[in-house]
Amino acid sequence: MTPTPCSPSARTAYRRAEAEQFLTLYHEESGLPGLTARLVEVWDEVGRTGSYTLTSSELTYGARVAWRNSTRCVGRLPWRSLEVRDLRHVTRPDDVFTHLLAHLRAALNGGRIRPIISIFGPDVRIHNDQLLRYAGYRQPGGGVVGDPQNVPLTEHLRRLGWTGGPGTPWDVLPLAVEGRGGVRLFSLPEDATRQVPITHPEVPALGGLGLRWFALPVLSRMTLEVGGLSFPAAPFNGWYVQTEIAARNLADEERYNMLPAVARALGLDTARDRTLWRDRALVELNVAVLHSFDRAGVRIADHHAVTRQFVRFEEAEARAGRSVRGRWSWLIPPLSPATTPVWHRSYVDGDESPRFVPQPPAWEERQAGRCPLHG
Ligand code: ARG
Repeated sequence: MTPTPCSPSARTAYRRAEAEQFLTLYHEESGLPGLTARLVEVWDEVGRTGSYTLTSSELTYGARVAWRNSTRCVGRLPWRSLEVRDLRHVTRPDDVFTHLLAHLRAALNGGRIRPIISIFGPDVRIHNDQLLRYAGYRQPGGGVVGDPQNVPLTEHLRRLGWTGGPGTPWDVLPLAVEGRGGVRLFSLPEDATRQVPITHPEVPALGGLGLRWFALPVLSRMTLEVGGLSFPAAPFNGWYVQTEIAARNLADEERYNMLPAVARALGLDTARDRTLWRDRALVELNVAVLHSFDRAGVRIADHHAVTRQFVRFEEAEARAGRSVRGRWSWLIPPLSPATTPVWHRSYVDGDESPRFVPQPPAWEERQAGRCPLHG
């Protein structure tokens, strides 16, 4: 347990206020009667125990609204369709892993990806920031084999006892799951780590680069907060927008840095920036990722469709009498942003509860003495 300077009475007051706010929202938006009785019950439970228990329906609604409130997410239109797995009773690492495998398989759904969140017991932590990540191995000369972003995670897993993979740029990392009984490492079986090889519809040499990416983004290091309660192990997935893979993960100089190789595969003159070889390579890599996922039968969005969908989400929210917050710099795509409607609109940022809050990585010292309610 983290030591906390918050007094028990401050915590009680905070929990009651947050519970009231969330339960009011839940009852109002769902047209459910019985709010007063439920508030009395929760008020009483918090007074006796310092905390309270959400019903499964409350938790389900809270997780869906946390998605609706995610200011950095451009794919929020289907927020009501999020499948919520209430696994609050699951606390042993082995059992957590079993449920993570079930999550990965159900979410992939043979390629027709479904958004799912699995909510585990409060003492569970997943050290990986996403369930599916490629290792990043720092080389003696200073370079990196694999995903440079994952070097700290890879080194953390080594310290926990991982003996390392074959050393390719695409070694899938094991999961570090902490729960009742300590931290345990689990390697993922192949059928749970569906990946798509990247090929281009007209340029075979691009396929020759051997690029690939995971079918599923599953974020696993964000705390779900609902009604003043925190769920630190609540991995959730949607489906990719191709720009995430093609314009960032494979393209960023600090990631796989593949634009020079893609440009060469396209036969472009890379001697001068003004030939716009980077831009041309970027577009073709995006074409390739969409083509490859489509061919593999794995659901993926493109930045034009998803931003139009976001405008529909804004309209639907306005009809429901709610305003949409957003972080513009995250909502616009990293490719041709001004060709999408989001470019031309403005957004107010700011957190609203229920919400997802990023966690500091397990290998960075947790800040002691901080009040978890306000910190
Ligand atoms: N951008 C992250 C990645 O490429 C994934 C973030 C979540 N994306 C999503 N489409 N739900 O790995």
